[in-house]
Amino acid sequence: MALVAGLSLPVAVLVAVSLLLGALILLISAALAGPRPEAEGSGVDHEESSIVGNGVAEKQTTSKKQKMQRFRKERLQQHVFSHPVLAAALKGHSGNISCLDFSSNGKYLASCSDDRTVRVWSTKDFLEREHRCMRANVELDHATHVRFSPDSRAFITWLANEETVRVFKMTKKDDGSLTFSASVDDFPKKHRFPVINISIAETGKFIMSAASDTTILIWDLKGEVMATINTNQMNNAFATVSPCGRFVASCGFTPDVKVWEVCFTKSGEFQEVLRAFDLKGHSAGVYSFAFSNDSRRMATVSKDGTWKLWDTDVEYKKQQDPYLLLTIKCDVADPCHIALSPDARVVAISSGFSISVYNAKTGEKEEEFLNVHGEEIADLAFDVNSRFLVSSGDRAIRVFHNVVGYRAVITEMEAMLKKPTSEAMRERLQQQISNAQSALDSVCTKKQ
Ligand SMILES: *[C@@H]1O[C@H](CO)[C@@H](O)[C@H](O)[C@H]1NC(C)=O
Ligand SMILES: *[C@@H]1O[C@H](CO)[C@@H](O)[C@H](O)[C@H]1NC(C)=O
Ligand SMILES: *[C@@H]1O[C@H](CO)[C@@H](O)[C@H](O)[C@H]1NC(C)=O
Repeated sequence: MALVAGLSLPVAVLVAVSLLLGALILLISAALAGPRPEAEGSGVDHEESSIVGNGVAEKQTTSKKQKMQRFRKERLQQHVFSHPVLAAALKGHSGNISCLDFSSNGKYLASCSDDRTVRVWSTKDFLEREHRCMRANVELDHATHVRFSPDSRAFITWLANEETVRVFKMTKKDDGSLTFSASVDDFPKKHRFPVINISIAETGKFIMSAASDTTILIWDLKGEVMATINTNQMNNAFATVSPCGRFVASCGFTPDVKVWEVCFTKSGEFQEVLRAFDLKGHSAGVYSFAFSNDSRRMATVSKDGTWKLWDTDVEYKKQQDPYLLLTIKCDVADPCHIALSPDARVVAISSGFSISVYNAKTGEKEEEFLNVHGEEIADLAFDVNSRFLVSSGDRAIRVFHNVVGYRAVITEMEAMLKKPTSEAMRERLQQQISNAQSALDSVCTKKQ
């Protein structure tokens, strides 16, 4: 893809060196590590090697005894959490996890941590006993943010120390595992304040980075800044690109969410950034917001102690404003995050250490997960199929079954069945009900 075009030669050399080193380190670490005691919860993490940086080289010199001591200490510090709808705890990171992202093909979950690694987890093992993850080392730095490229074959990271974007390309090996290679040049440093969020448009046309002042930069995929947005919101609290790749939106100290369209010509040249519409209605600063996968719904959460659901399927060029659909009271304690399931049926809100899950149609709170992590929750996301909700904070990623979503599908489809429909439609609805019901049943079976 264009993201790493022109880098094939250096990348090939890097990969070859990495493979050699990787094999060596694997041999050495296999010799050093004895059988590993099983970790708490439902999974033992199984790691595949990747490119090798300083992090691994350091580890290699620690003796087995030191390793065991460190392992016991870490194990003692592990936060314990269990809940009937918890599907898995993904363990592997040795530092706090700051950011999570699902690839748009639904196969992977990426996580990054201050342990200087990015891990890529296979979503198809979420319900297995073992959770395979593959590790990319962030040399001499660590990533605070991670985002998959639209083709799910690369990811971008924000580097904490270098304060810029680094691109990693993923290559699939014959055995299904992945290797990672960082592109030779990081993006130039452009922000004057710490960056809080990054995104890539699903169209592959631009990358966004938002800093804690009021700046948002729009980059092309090679690292050239195409546009600068001043949000005029006193400061930025959260910013992202809509899943359709058309819009950039931000919130901050002021009570509104601002939405811009990033416009390109028919031939794909960057044209301009236009103000599109605002979400106005909260009475205090907005902590965060989220889009559904078709960008026709947005959910917002504010310091005013409410979350709101909006219909954003409007023609803003004809001066149509988004419609407010729901306002629901909720607990809000900083840090506060919101996630909207891709199908817009479920809203999840994290406040401090806990998560509440709401039906987005009725506004009813249906699930509450208290003290999910040992540190404050740093990120919250639904997978692309609206089957799972994941959260991070400490060193583990918690994966929850989206039971609220399954129940919502059943209610919705049953209501549709009561109306006259074609035979083919009835069959489709019944199939969806039975899929959701069996997913729910399997969660309840595990409970006993
Ligand atoms: C995780 O973050 C918390 C607070 O943000 C900090 O106190 C703690 O030391 C961090 N843990 C690790 C292992 O870095
Ligand atoms: C966006 O930035 C806010 C503020 O720093 C942070 O709390 C949040 O975790 C970030 N979200 C993502 C998805 O990076
Ligand atoms: C959004 O998600 C729904 C349900 O998961 C899926 O059927 C639909 O194809 C997705 N739409 C887009 C634009 O990705």
